[in-house]
Amino acid sequence: MAKFVLLTSLSILVIAFTCSSAMRVLNETPIDPNDPKVVKIAKFAVDERNKQVRTKFELEKVNAGGTETIPDGTVYQLNISVIESEVYFTTRLVAVLVHPDGSKELKSFE
Ligand SMILES: *[C@@H]1O[C@H](CO)[C@@H](O)[C@H](O)[C@H]1NC(C)=O
Repeated sequence: MAKFVLLTSLSILVIAFTCSSAMRVLNETPIDPNDPKVVKIAKFAVDERNKQVRTKFELEKVNAGGTETIPDGTVYQLNISVIESEVYFTTRLVAVLVHPDGSKELKSFE
């Protein structure tokens, strides 16, 4: 009986944990795509990507995005439009972590 109760409460814990991490994504605070601070972060993502893989992306604009606060700082997840080699447009999803000291780190560029 005790074992059953333990297992049940464990499963409830697992379910609660899974739900709360899914919720967190939905509860991202939306950003203003025209906020100069957001544009700066998007530019950083593009510059950093260009350095890393020698591409020539140029930021066209920020479409949408959100922020999420984590223990290491604030993660900006942005949907941006870029121009590649002055030819064609693509939409990219980027994540930039801004540390509490203001330093930035590109987490993903897809
Ligand atoms: C990014 O934003 C553009 C323009 O609003 C939209 O068409 C596109 O579906 C978005 N991409 C993703 C992956 O959310």
